[in-house]
Amino acid sequence: MFGFALKIYGCQMNVYDGDRIASEFLARGWKEVAEEEADVVVYVTCSIRDKAEQKVRSELGRHAPKGEGRHRLVAVVGCMAQRVGRELLSRFPQVRVVCGPRHLGRLAEAVEASLRGGETAVLLDDDPRALDDLERVPTRRLLPFKSYVTIAHGCDNFCTYCIVPHVRGRFQSRRPEAIVDEVRALVDGGVVEVTLLGQNVNSYGTDLEGISFAGLLRSLSAVKGLRRLRFATNHPKDLTGEVIAAMAEESVVCPAVNLPIQSGSDRVLHLMNRGYDVAAYADRIGSLRAALPEVAVTSDLIVAFPGETEEDFSLSMEALRRFRFDQVHSAAYSPRPGTAAAAFDGAVPAVEARRRINAVNDLQLDIAREINEALVGRTFELLVEGPAPRGEGLLQGRTRTDKVVLFPGRGLEGCFVDVVVESSDAWSLRGRLSGEGS
Ligand code: SAH
Ligand code: SF4
Ligand code: F3S
Repeated sequence: MFGFALKIYGCQMNVYDGDRIASEFLARGWKEVAEEEADVVVYVTCSIRDKAEQKVRSELGRHAPKGEGRHRLVAVVGCMAQRVGRELLSRFPQVRVVCGPRHLGRLAEAVEASLRGGETAVLLDDDPRALDDLERVPTRRLLPFKSYVTIAHGCDNFCTYCIVPHVRGRFQSRRPEAIVDEVRALVDGGVVEVTLLGQNVNSYGTDLEGISFAGLLRSLSAVKGLRRLRFATNHPKDLTGEVIAAMAEESVVCPAVNLPIQSGSDRVLHLMNRGYDVAAYADRIGSLRAALPEVAVTSDLIVAFPGETEEDFSLSMEALRRFRFDQVHSAAYSPRPGTAAAAFDGAVPAVEARRRINAVNDLQLDIAREINEALVGRTFELLVEGPAPRGEGLLQGRTRTDKVVLFPGRGLEGCFVDVVVESSDAWSLRGRLSGEGS
C-alpha cells in the first residue's frame, strides 16, 4: 500500500481533478498521508500566469532526491505538466511521472508502475483531441456535501492572452447521461450542492445532439435531493436567453454568475479576441439582472494587456463603476509562450501595471463594500461549511448568491440555516441565526 499527498494549484477544475485522482488512489487501497510521509506527491498544476508556474518550480526544487532504497516519487499533472512536462522531467530528477489534463485516466497505473519499476512515464497529449478521462466519481472531497463536476473539457475560443486552449485541448462536452449519473451518485453520497465546470459552460452541448446547457440545467434540477446547482465560467458571448430562463425558473439553480468582462475597452476586447464589445456585454448582464433581480455577478479583469493605453484602462475602471460586480478577480497581464498576444507590441511597464491593478482593487473594494452594506438587515439561507478559518466560535456558510457569511454557532456542517445579516465588509457578511434573540 502506498501513501500519497496532493498539492493543488490553479482553478476549480484542478480541485475537481485532484478530488478524482485522490478518489482513484483510495479505491486502489492507497492512503492519503501528510506530504512528509508520502511515497508519491502529486502536483496538480496551473499555467495561467507565470507566477503560478514559478510557485510549482520552486516547490519542486525543494524535493531533494531521497536516499537509497526509499520509494519516493513526484508526479506533475495538469496544465503545467502539459506545457512543460518534458522539461520538468529532465530538470528535477525526482519528477518521474508527468500527465496532462486529458490523460488523468492513465495516471494511477503509471504511478504504480513507476513506483514498482522505477521507470518514467510521460502522459502528454500530442493530439489535442485525445482524451483518457478518469471515470471516477469524487468520493473524497474537501467538504463532503459539496462537489464540482466537469461538464466539458478544453476550450476552442483562443482568446489571444490565454494558455488554456493550448494545454486543455479542444472543446468536448461530456455526455449528459454521464453527468446526470455522476450528480445522482454524488447526491446519494451526501452532496447537496454541485458546481458544474467548464471554460465556457454555455457552449455545453454544441458538439452533441439534442442537448444544450439550458437543457442540462433543467435535467439536473430534477435530481432528487440536489439543493443547489452552480456553474462556472460563462463566456459573455454565449450566455443565452434560454440559460437565463432556466436560471429564473429552476429554483435549484443558484442566482450567482461569473461573467468575465476582461476589459472595458472595445479596442482591447477586440485585440483579446473576446467576440463581444462593451455594449453586447451590457446587454447580457442587463437581461440577466432583469430576469433575476437578486443575482450576484462576479467578473474577471486583465489590466496592462499589451498596448493598453491610459484611455483603455480608464474604460475598464468605468466598466467596474457601471456594472458594479459583487467581486472581481483582477490580474496584470502575463505573457504566455505560444499565445498570440505574446507576440504583440506595447508591453506595459511592470510599475504601471502595478499602479493599474491597485487602482482596480481600490475601486472594487469600495463597490463590494457598498453592495454588501445594502444586505445588512436581510435574512439569507446558508449552507453551513464549518468553523470560520479566522474567528473564534464562528461558523461560515454561503448564501445562494455565494456570499460568505460568518455567525456564532457550533456544529451544523452541511446544514441549511437562516441567518440575519448584522454587519458587512467588502469580503463577507456577519450575522446571527434567525429566530435567536438579538
Ligand atoms: N474561461 C474563462 C477564464 C479562464 S482563465 C473565460 O473565458 O473568461 C481565468 C482568468 O484568468 C481569466 O478570466 C483571465 O482574467 C485570467 N487570465 C487568463 N490568461 C491570463 C494571462 N495571460 N494574464 C493574466 N491573466 C490571465
Ligand atoms: Fe481562455 Fe478565452 Fe477559453 Fe476562457 S474562453 S479559457 S479566457 S481561451
Ligand atoms: Fe490554470 Fe489550467 Fe485552470 S491553466 S486556471 S489550471 S485550466
